[in-house]
Amino acid sequence: MFAIIGGSGMTQLSCLEISRREIIRTPYGEPSGPLTFGKMRNEDIVFLARHGHGHTIPPHAINYRANLWALHSLQPSHVIAVASVGGIRADLAPGRLMIPDQVIDYTYGRSFTFFEGKEQPVTHIDMTLPYSQRTRALLLQAAKNANEAVFDGGVYAATQGPRLETAAEINRLERDGADIVGMTGMPEAALARELNLNYASIAVVANYAAGRGTNVSSIPLKEIYAVLEQAMMGVRNILEHVVSC
Ligand code: HPA
Repeated sequence: MFAIIGGSGMTQLSCLEISRREIIRTPYGEPSGPLTFGKMRNEDIVFLARHGHGHTIPPHAINYRANLWALHSLQPSHVIAVASVGGIRADLAPGRLMIPDQVIDYTYGRSFTFFEGKEQPVTHIDMTLPYSQRTRALLLQAAKNANEAVFDGGVYAATQGPRLETAAEINRLERDGADIVGMTGMPEAALARELNLNYASIAVVANYAAGRGTNVSSIPLKEIYAVLEQAMMGVRNILEHVVSC
């Protein structure tokens, strides 16, 4: 079974033949919404909308632990996280897709680990390579088969949100080595690793990051949803090819 976490612009998977929805409770509370089970090209899929069914949960308020715990309980072979981002590098224009290979975490105040509590031994997970190499390879192969252009690798900066960044903050992220910026990549990737899930992400550039592109004095928010709608067709195409890889 493949698990797919949908982000902004993908609150449902139109190509999924839905069989049932299930509310799963976890020791960490409730996930963002019911899990949707179905089939895509005859492969079992479970889908979860990260921001809730009607896109009502902001990035800092997402129960990442419940989401990952619920998906883990189903023992998926891969977890594919779709996330919309801002493009920092000039070639990462709105509509481009990237399979990132690194993360920098700037978030704070989120529940970011399963390893807490007095009885638990101290555990340090390895995050040298934050995404599953196997899942990344699967996504890259699927993109190739689907004839969709994707950037292979790049650094995802996870910011706290829900506000967008200042231009100076984006300059700092670029100096830090970041290529794209989003608000949900962490702690999601770390929690997936704590649960030993094969987790990787498809990042969809919704807009140029603050101070970049032609609109340097503001981010044209109205355009974002049109860009995402178009780009998500490419993502769906890739997802359909993942299951037949
Ligand atoms: N910054 C942070 N998160 C985002 C952006 C952005 O510009 N676009 C989409 N998600």
